[in-house]
Amino acid sequence: MTRAEYEALAREILQHDRRYHVENDPSIADVEYDRLFAKLKTTEAEHTDWVVSWSPTQRIGHQPISSFPKITRAVPMLSLDNTYDESELRAFHDRVVRGLEGEAPAYVVEPKIDGISIELKYVEGKFQIGATRGDGVTGEDVTANLRTIHALPLELSHPVTADVRGEVYMDRVAFEKVNAERVTAEEEPWKNPRNATGGSLKLLDPRQAAKRPMKLLTYEVVGGEASGASQGKTHFELLAWMKSLGLPVSTEITRVETFEELLAVVNSWAARKMALPFAIDGVVIKVDRIDQRRFLGATNRAPRWAIAFKFPAEQATSKLLRLEVNVGRTGAITPLGHFEPVELSGTTVKRASFFNFDQIRRLDVAVGDRVLLEKAGEIIPYVITVVERGTDRQPIVEPTHCPSCGTALEREEGQVALYCPNVFGCPEQRARSIEFFCKRDAMNIENLGPSLVYQLTEKGLVKDVADLYDLTVEQLLELERMGQKSAAGVVKGIAESKGKATLTRLLVGLGMPKIGEVWAHEVAVRFADLATLMAASPAEIDQALQQLHGFGAERASAVSGFFAEERNREVLTKLMARGVSPSEPKIEPSGVLAGTRICVTGTLSRPRSEVQAAIESAGGVFDKSVKKGTHYLVAGADVGAAKLKDAEKKGTLVIDEAVLEKLLRGESIESP
Ligand code: IVH
Repeated sequence: MTRAEYEALAREILQHDRRYHVENDPSIADVEYDRLFAKLKTTEAEHTDWVVSWSPTQRIGHQPISSFPKITRAVPMLSLDNTYDESELRAFHDRVVRGLEGEAPAYVVEPKIDGISIELKYVEGKFQIGATRGDGVTGEDVTANLRTIHALPLELSHPVTADVRGEVYMDRVAFEKVNAERVTAEEEPWKNPRNATGGSLKLLDPRQAAKRPMKLLTYEVVGGEASGASQGKTHFELLAWMKSLGLPVSTEITRVETFEELLAVVNSWAARKMALPFAIDGVVIKVDRIDQRRFLGATNRAPRWAIAFKFPAEQATSKLLRLEVNVGRTGAITPLGHFEPVELSGTTVKRASFFNFDQIRRLDVAVGDRVLLEKAGEIIPYVITVVERGTDRQPIVEPTHCPSCGTALEREEGQVALYCPNVFGCPEQRARSIEFFCKRDAMNIENLGPSLVYQLTEKGLVKDVADLYDLTVEQLLELERMGQKSAAGVVKGIAESKGKATLTRLLVGLGMPKIGEVWAHEVAVRFADLATLMAASPAEIDQALQQLHGFGAERASAVSGFFAEERNREVLTKLMARGVSPSEPKIEPSGVLAGTRICVTGTLSRPRSEVQAAIESAGGVFDKSVKKGTHYLVAGADVGAAKLKDAEKKGTLVIDEAVLEKLLRGESIESP
């Protein structure tokens, strides 16, 4: 290897790190990554003078890039080295025995959950802050989203001050649900539960995060006098102590005394893993005794006392029978492969998406070829490679025209996806967007599913979403398999959607690019109702949305552009004329002081602005003076008697600063 090749390799690994840690969208398998990393390490060992400061071996993970506040930790969160077979596992064991000067340790084996590692800070038993691993030292503060996880105790059973580490994850059922929603929204499904969890933890709106059923298991305590070492001599004792505090710990842990036992347990997991409700990508093997762990220590990347053993991804081969070209709601053209049915990790696979024609070219796959399918995180099948060329192979030609409307397809600069630009005329796009409008997350129109929408658009009864509101029972009765009762049900479902919808749901249903539920909600809160949004100029919309935290110029112009388009305005005007003009319900502030009005007077122990911020962040309202309806007056030192009298007259309770602190902590106070 030349020096230039070495640097190219280091750079390539950095790219992969970024995709894995920051974008939650790895482009290569872990095994391949580890192979590249190992090559980098050997090269650096051979040419110590080449090592660049930015080499991926010189740090733990990757810088987080989102808009979450950063936290810095004293004890870095490390990663784990991986092993894939018996000989690598034996090499780990030999290293440990050598490190322990000949002593063979007992190990614990636990599932390696495919989730996101986090650290939770507890102060005197209260959950304070939770952050992702980030680059190990600096992580992202995702406290608000973590608080939505039911398994996370907000208070421990003892007033312990400790940093608890563990894994946030989604079980299989939740993962599949989240992915089904993504497919509906024409977003690429998450490749594995880890990515789905990462995406959910980074939602900017905790109310949205709460809808993602995330779970938690904890496995380590660091820092302070409450560190693991003082709470038990072994991992087992440490976990028992954690459990007694109310922390969720895995029950699937086995302790082994010898390497042979270790091997047997590790091997047994390949069959056992499907019995778990969540996906695991391997097992973690840890030295059981805490003092031995201390003795072994860690490199700057991973502890020497633990190792991951990764299972190979499950694979199967099958023949590509035909390729279906789909047109989505936004015009995106997606190739879907139909395969000979094959069993793969417990399900029968018949279809797999190629996502775009670039991938087909890259794989050089043709109809009739036998391919290798793999299930990542045991869930979605992917085509990995062609294993055997078909004798009768028919090459796949990238379409030049839309299979639905015949319009010439286009590709956006720098994008891989092909799309049909006939936004307002393509029948398939129209049907897909009307179907989308009716979906549960959008207008939630009952009794109106995809096949009915297909018939309605086919027959020309519905040309845009507003036409739905003109449908009559008589018109519906003319459709196939439609009786009086179901026709009435459809009309009723459509009529009811007018009253039920919020502005958020309508905006979701309109299907603007890059505007899913989270951002639609931000727009809805900002503009309150459809009429206001319609009355705003594109520049006003743009400006207002760009001021929202994290919204960004691209999304803002997606919204303003949509509302500037005459054809969209026509449909919206039609909708309003038919009584679809939703507003956004005012959200009740959450927090311990939600709805409580507090006024402050006199000198307090901390600046007035700080007290105001504390009250407001607890959901309270800060009143500048005592008004009718002010609940509390916090009286600091040197407060005038007149002020107190006035408060009394208005029915406001006078409290001191200590009582305010109690209120802020959510404790009840005794009324006089
Ligand atoms: S122990 C210093 N135990 O795997 C030891 N990690 O590939 C750190 N993981 O960053 C981790 N299940 O996010 C440990 N039972 C388990 C785990 C586990 C999943 C994750 C963790 C870690 C990653 C390393």
